Amino acid sequence: MQSSDEGEDPLPKDEEELKTKKDRYKVLKLLGRGGYGAVYSVLRLSDSEKFAIKCENASAVRKSLYMDCNVLKGAAQIRSRHFCTVIDQAAVKDRFNFIVMKLIGKNLWDLRMDTPECRFSLGTALKAAAQCLISIEQLHRFGYLHRDIKPGNFAAGRVESNEHHTIFMLDFGLCREFVKREEGKIRTQRKSAPFRGTTRYAPLNSMLELDTGRKDDIESWLYMVVEWTSGGLPWRKLKASDRDKVLRFKKELRSKEEIIEDMYYNCPRKEFHRILKYTDSLDFYSQPDYQFVYFCIQHAATANKIKDTDPIDWDPDVPYIGPIEVPGDGKVIDLEVEMRMSAEGSNNKTKKEKDSMKRQKKKEEKEDAKNRTKKREAKKSEKEKKEKTKKESSGANASKKSAKKT
Ligand SMILES: Nc1ncnc2c1ncn2[C@@H]1O[C@H](COP(=O)(O)OP(=O)(O)OP(=O)(O)O)[C@@H](O)[C@H]1O
Ligand SMILES: [Mg+2]
Repeated sequence: MQSSDEGEDPLPKDEEELKTKKDRYKVLKLLGRGGYGAVYSVLRLSDSEKFAIKCENASAVRKSLYMDCNVLKGAAQIRSRHFCTVIDQAAVKDRFNFIVMKLIGKNLWDLRMDTPECRFSLGTALKAAAQCLISIEQLHRFGYLHRDIKPGNFAAGRVESNEHHTIFMLDFGLCREFVKREEGKIRTQRKSAPFRGTTRYAPLNSMLELDTGRKDDIESWLYMVVEWTSGGLPWRKLKASDRDKVLRFKKELRSKEEIIEDMYYNCPRKEFHRILKYTDSLDFYSQPDYQFVYFCIQHAATANKIKDTDPIDWDPDVPYIGPIEVPGDGKVIDLEVEMRMSAEGSNNKTKKEKDSMKRQKKKEEKEDAKNRTKKREAKKSEKEKKEKTKKESSGANASKKSAKKT
């Protein structure tokens, strides 16, 4: 076994055999590579069924695989068809941790790149948009924000399992729980939050280093949907490091006609811009009206004579058989998510990481308490004010009445 300290790539090699408590898997092919890990297809040796594994370097500074695992376990409880099931997990000591999950097909970035004009037909973009919106509502419903909505984090299912019209949500490494389950409340908005995510699709708030909420995931979703439909966002030529310039574009999208026009080239401008205006009208604590956003998408489809059965671009010869659902109301459900992950991140955290998490938690609790007192005081003074005006007006009425009598 090669240690990651020796400078060699600690991630699995082709054909390498991986063991877990339950089974053995043979590594087949690299499917995608991120900063601290990679995704591979594997063969389960007990029954020759194919799966995907997501691996994270044991030495990764920011451990996020436990978040992928937790979120996917949460999704399993709501039985959504837009999330992969996790079937196994293990670690290869000093090299990497991994989870084994359902294998799906190409991601939506690659599927768009496969089209002749590098853009989806409007029908395909709207069908994919609706499915992704539903998966976002479901993720929010069980208490998580995604915070990295982008085409590479959605993929179609496999032809072999007849799921190639279904879209799956991927990559929960940047997710954040936005509810305090014990109290059934939304966590207090932090005054600032370091930038995370992908510059091109990041919501305005995240680029301004503000704490983001549910409506911000929808804003990123809209950028993604516009890119699918038009073939490119106005800031497509800018690099991830040009954050300030991208930020300027996104601000101008709210005010400058020429940017608005450029943005919605080939798109149902009225409906898409209405969604942007709607998300802009919400704040961190708002529970978005996902059904309204869905209605805008449906409206764009009807106005452009798109039928539910029209084929999608990556399967052009057959009618669309993807799920046609309406999003839920976004109300957060109570959920028991198993926080334990034997081999991965949460238990592998160093003392320093644990201490810093404790400190952060304490800080947030203090902030919450402060906010609660502020709220209580504000309520009290408002009540007092109301009582005072009530007394004054009843006094005035009484004197009016007595004046009438006399
Ligand atoms: N279950 C899966 N089945 C098939 N392919 C997958 C699966 N999970 C991920 N992939 C592929 O691997 C790519 C990377 O996966 P994911 O986004 O989860 O990893 P990541 O390391 O966070 O990547 P990045 O840093 O690029 O966002 C996806 O875009 C997708 O193409
Ligand atoms: Mg990703």
